[in-house]
Amino acid sequence: MTNPNFEFKPASDFIREDAPERYIYNMASDKHEIAISTHDLQVSYGDNLALSEGDLEFERYKITSLIGASGSGKSTFLRSLNRMNDDVATVNGQIMYRGVDINTKNIDVYEMRRHIGMVFQRPNPFAKSIYDNITFALTQRGNYTKEQLDEIVETSLKQAALWDQVKDELNKSALALSGGQAQRLVIARALALKPDILLLDEPSSALDPISSAQVEDTLIELKNQYTIIIVTHNMQQAARISDYTAFFHLGKVIEYDLTRKIFTRPKVALTNDYISGNFG
Ligand SMILES: Nc1ncnc2c1ncn2[C@@H]1O[C@H](COP(=O)(O)OP(=O)(O)OP(=O)(O)O)[C@@H](O)[C@H]1O
Ligand SMILES: [Mg+2]
Repeated sequence: MTNPNFEFKPASDFIREDAPERYIYNMASDKHEIAISTHDLQVSYGDNLALSEGDLEFERYKITSLIGASGSGKSTFLRSLNRMNDDVATVNGQIMYRGVDINTKNIDVYEMRRHIGMVFQRPNPFAKSIYDNITFALTQRGNYTKEQLDEIVETSLKQAALWDQVKDELNKSALALSGGQAQRLVIARALALKPDILLLDEPSSALDPISSAQVEDTLIELKNQYTIIIVTHNMQQAARISDYTAFFHLGKVIEYDLTRKIFTRPKVALTNDYISGNFG
């Protein structure tokens, strides 16, 4: 499915010779509420500087796509946002969330991840029932009545657009779900913790087109209540669902702007080369 509202134009149509090498949209904070932002974020795996110059602001209740070729640093950036890189990489710089730099030692990482949840590329349901997948993390760290848990299971599954399909078989193993259902279950599991921000790393790339479209619809529904940051290799998907897009190249954010600008009138020639399929 292609979106008729955008078309890729050759760079020569509009990119001037003095086009900038980098363009970062500057969010006016009096007009846009910023949910999370990074400042001078740098991530190294040993000697390999995988991300440099990570300065981005993410608007609340919007979807932002991170795009770019394989190895450009998208996952590295995303995983840093909820400290998934702690054990594997050195992460320098600030990650500001609700006035607090969460990239510091004195942060309770588990508590922070209740606010900033993550969904991975391959659906990873636990080998438990559908119901227990959703309640597992909650029961580990809190006291909930059966009624409260039932309510959370129903709400989360409804938000993830899975309730109607599984409501009569909540005790069935989650491993018996299809790929698309499993991914929506994992989204429901993340939502059960009532996060503020949802990070998704290629959540539909392992899915068939119909399941992928269902996940996209789910995300569009969710953005009324959540701030969503999603890595995708699918340009149509980025154009369809996201409000903002950041283009990564060799560990740098080359261009960050409103999605419709990135896909119709990028300011940087490299961005245009990427979105029109000239490399990557
Ligand atoms: N766990 C790791 N250990 C060492 N190096 C890593 C690790 N993860 C990523 N890298 C390196 O960091 C760089 C950026 O990788 P990253 O996974 O962030 O790219 P990506 O844009 O997400 O790519 P893809 O589209 O293939 O998922 C690459 O050079 C990669 O080899
Ligand atoms: Mg990746």
